[in-house]
Amino acid sequence: MYLQKRSRILRKSTAIRSLVAETSLSVNDFIVPLFIDEGKDIKTEIASMPGYYRNSLDITVKEVKDLWNMGLKSVLVFIKCPDGLKDNTGKEAWNKEGLMQRSIRAIKESVPDMLVLTDVALDPYSSFGHDGIVKEGEIVNDETVEALVKMSVSHAEAGADFVAPSDMMDGRIGAIRNGLEETGFNKVGIMSYSAKYASCFYGPFRDALDSAPGFGDKKSYQMNYANRIEAIKETLLDVEEGADIVMVKPALAYLDIIREVKNAVSVPVSAYNISGEYAMIKAAAKMGWIDEDKAILETLTAFKRAGADLIATYFAKDAVRLLTQ
Ligand code: PBG
Repeated sequence: MYLQKRSRILRKSTAIRSLVAETSLSVNDFIVPLFIDEGKDIKTEIASMPGYYRNSLDITVKEVKDLWNMGLKSVLVFIKCPDGLKDNTGKEAWNKEGLMQRSIRAIKESVPDMLVLTDVALDPYSSFGHDGIVKEGEIVNDETVEALVKMSVSHAEAGADFVAPSDMMDGRIGAIRNGLEETGFNKVGIMSYSAKYASCFYGPFRDALDSAPGFGDKKSYQMNYANRIEAIKETLLDVEEGADIVMVKPALAYLDIIREVKNAVSVPVSAYNISGEYAMIKAAAKMGWIDEDKAILETLTAFKRAGADLIATYFAKDAVRLLTQ
């Protein structure tokens, strides 16, 4: 057989494969989500996220130092709000002495250069478990946006580098940008969850923070997973309103959306490798059905190949271990 083109030449050895690889992962790509709990010396494994923990602040601070020493330079902070502090206004979300605000200050104090991004949405603080304020069974938009602005400004006051609104209300990016400008926090950025879908894959996260919706679902604000063009519309709106980084979430079943968004915007695109995606790999690996380490690298590489510039992932520490061994 005489062939003019033999594609396998570029796959012949490790050396040539790595030389022509189109995508590579590095420690610089990852954001580490942190779940923080009240109390001292508390480390609770999340039942549906084996190997991932909700930690009290003292343990979190140690963890953040370890992350920094591993080369991981960004964390995305979530807190578990005690039940007694939840209500329909979500006002604990902008309490200066709230767990989130104390956490931001403590992390910044111990590792000042760690980039601190904070989740902005009312669900952990809502007695209804919804991302917004509820009136007559509906999640009201404009009042929720006012609450999100207060929440964002209070995170900025505590020292957050970026706020990350994950609520999918209309107009919140512009309102938050204005709120930050008016209060003098003009160096605080916004990473917008701009294309966030109503997904069953958030289940384990809602276990971690005890934040499952008490009634109904989130389909009146999070996007329908049948839609692609809507993701571009939402993302372009957020960029216009002032988002510095946009996000597609979930990631694994939405690689097409990551690519579309990447092609449509000129700001960095992040992908959130969410809790259910973590749980699926962990569960299949535990059963002996897949190789966990290989599955981690393959999925993380796929996000970058699809167009993600950065990845929020519960596998960040594993990825660093795998990339350096
Ligand atoms: C809160 C929020 C959620 C996640 C991030 N921020 C849950 C939700 O929208 O119900 C999910 C993260 C994950 O599943 O890993 N608005």
